[in-house]
Amino acid sequence: MSSTLFRTKKVEQSILDTEEPEHALKKSLSALDLTVFGVGVIIGTGIFVLTGTVAKNNAGPAVALAFVAAGVACALAALCYAEFASTVPVAGSAYTFSYASLGELPAWIIGWDLVLEFALGTAVVAVGWSGYIQSLMDNAGWEMPAALGSREGADVFGFDILAAALVLVLTGILVLGMKLSARITSLVVAIKVTVVLVVIVAGAFLIKGANYDPFIPKEKPVEAGSSLDSPLIQLMFGWAPSNFGVMGIFTAASVVFFAFIGFDVVATAAEETRNPQRDMPRGILGSLLICTTLYVLVSIVVTGMQHYTRLSIDAPLADAFKATGHPWFAGFISFGAAVGLTTVCMILLLGQTRVFFAMSRDGLLPRFFSHVHPRFRTPHRPTILLGVIIAILAGFTPLTELAALVNIGTLFAFVVVAIGVLVLRRTRPDLHRAFRTPWVPVIPIVSVCASLWLMINLPAETWVRFGIWMAAGFLVYFLYGRTHSRLARGEATKPEETL
Ligand code: ALA
Repeated sequence: MSSTLFRTKKVEQSILDTEEPEHALKKSLSALDLTVFGVGVIIGTGIFVLTGTVAKNNAGPAVALAFVAAGVACALAALCYAEFASTVPVAGSAYTFSYASLGELPAWIIGWDLVLEFALGTAVVAVGWSGYIQSLMDNAGWEMPAALGSREGADVFGFDILAAALVLVLTGILVLGMKLSARITSLVVAIKVTVVLVVIVAGAFLIKGANYDPFIPKEKPVEAGSSLDSPLIQLMFGWAPSNFGVMGIFTAASVVFFAFIGFDVVATAAEETRNPQRDMPRGILGSLLICTTLYVLVSIVVTGMQHYTRLSIDAPLADAFKATGHPWFAGFISFGAAVGLTTVCMILLLGQTRVFFAMSRDGLLPRFFSHVHPRFRTPHRPTILLGVIIAILAGFTPLTELAALVNIGTLFAFVVVAIGVLVLRRTRPDLHRAFRTPWVPVIPIVSVCASLWLMINLPAETWVRFGIWMAAGFLVYFLYGRTHSRLARGEATKPEETL
């Protein structure tokens, strides 16, 4: 049985299965292109929304340090991810790479995890978008009824209608096969970065030193009762559940980790990079460095403009300007944030339908989902199914709960990837590697530890939800995927299953 769990898909077959088998990818991307792409995918709800929530609940002004901690963990993971992504010369996601190198079960685990990362990530960004649209409407004097607004901290039953609507509209766009042109993408990246810079520069003049007192708020016990809300590490060591203090910085880091998600998408472009060994680390680490710097500056400015206890949780960056009497700036920031978040949401939604499609094409999920629409040439079935599920989730679930679940799934995938790099160096030294992680085995081992550290700083209830998701994944695999796998049946791809 173990040999079937680790059966691998031939590299040649993976190449055949990718989108354009007759075209070798053009090696045209430079380190600068990768950096711009990275910044475009990375900046989103993490900085625009989570900064306020975690400053208020976990870290105070020290949220800036949380961004540094999460950024370092991501940089380590990025170095492993880049080697993994460049090990097998096919375009695609970590799922495709691992199927060709590590074997079917690890590939299934990573694919199942990626669905969680992209699907719920889409929901998180949609909820963040809704917060900024509501802030914009508020500027114009319109108020959303509480039951149709944000679910974060809401004590009435309701449905975030704007977030759900955004997901459904984007789903429709993807089904029709419309793509963002490179020009629109660059324009959106420019708007997003401008907004972030405006927050930093204009906000710097509105800082009041007293708001930084205390920079690291004293540890505060939380009432017992719902102990599953506490970070797993506190339960593991039997500590009294608490917020803030030094441990609060790590709790915050495990949540704002979300702000860095997306760099893994950059790593998948290794084969299109002119000189991957040199440009890949420059591109990934460059975009991580730029984002970390912007994140640290934004959080220092925002917690200096408004005391952390008073920050808004729906649209903290814009609302801090409103609170200091600058509604015009607030309107501009809300507008830019809404534009920027729309594309992040679309990229995540696209990524998730493609992973689901690839798993279905391999027979690990029902093949019903890998039929391409005859006219639009898009995988319309998984796009619609998942779009509707994500819209419902985005409507009903508070943002931080979703973000924590996305983070644990992504961190787990990083652990598997870092171990995968070590395993493959031993078992398949012959494989082509466009990029090699430096200082193996030190970097992969430290990366595993850093990812695990952030994971155990997430709430225990997130672990429970993640456990349920993974258990469901194993069930689907053992009851369905293992026997229906095309690899197991020795079948090849049909033409109607190529995009
Ligand atoms: N990093 C992206 C965000 O913060 C996913 O929205």
